Amino acid sequence: MSVHSHIKKVTTHVLSEMKMRNEKIAMLTAYDYSTARILDSAGIDVILVGDSASNVMAGHESTLPITLDQMIYHGTSVVRAVNRALVIVDMPFGTYQGNSKEALASAIKIMKETSADAVKLEGGSEVIESVNRILSAGIPVMGHLGLTPQSIHKFGTYAVRATKKEESDKLIEDAKLLEEAGCFGIVLEKIPAELAAVVAKEVKIPVIGIGAGGGVDGQVLVVHDMLGITQEFSPRFLRRYHNLFSEITGAVKNYIEDVKSFDFPNEKEQY
Ligand code: KIV
Repeated sequence: MSVHSHIKKVTTHVLSEMKMRNEKIAMLTAYDYSTARILDSAGIDVILVGDSASNVMAGHESTLPITLDQMIYHGTSVVRAVNRALVIVDMPFGTYQGNSKEALASAIKIMKETSADAVKLEGGSEVIESVNRILSAGIPVMGHLGLTPQSIHKFGTYAVRATKKEESDKLIEDAKLLEEAGCFGIVLEKIPAELAAVVAKEVKIPVIGIGAGGGVDGQVLVVHDMLGITQEFSPRFLRRYHNLFSEITGAVKNYIEDVKSFDFPNEKEQY
């Protein structure tokens, strides 16, 4: 029995019940222990250890460079902090696309080494063999359709996806395929709100949107973006709840000034 057994843990079944009750699901990314602790104690339903760590933690231009071991490092840090939220770890680029046996090995490594609750991977029909094999090992899988950042070199831009019929038809088919395979949920990124609402109606599993409007079952944002730590990234869908960049800058400037002016530490701040 867990020492935290008095807390009702969010499971994939809880998310499914939330969809049935029309209760919205709140999801945010986290990559480290301290942030995950704050999000979990604030009552977030789902924490995604996103491969956006590649951008916001490591400073890469894309999500492609992050490795399986780096994702596992972030995943273990987050899981150690969390009592209630469901924790999902992104499968990084190159660990599931080519070969479903390798995909399963990657997913098992993530689950064994992080103790996370589930994995997420990008794509529909192209990766369905991997999805099936991972699911057959009893590992919960979340899909991710629409703007899939691991395919940025194929798309060429981070513009809105599925605005044309051919791509929107494929997206609906892919969502159904992921549901039939047994995925417990799907992230839809940066697609027209109307299309996202259609998908959320057509599938019974929870659909979580980012830049996909309000007609879906829940929302996800990158925590650095919604807290205003990142400055340069400002898409229309992003609501900033804070401007931590300027708050932290102010605090650091005050600290520098206090050190340089001999004000810090004072007598009470020493032994
Ligand atoms: O990596 C990530 O942060 C994500 C979200 C944008 C959904 O996949």
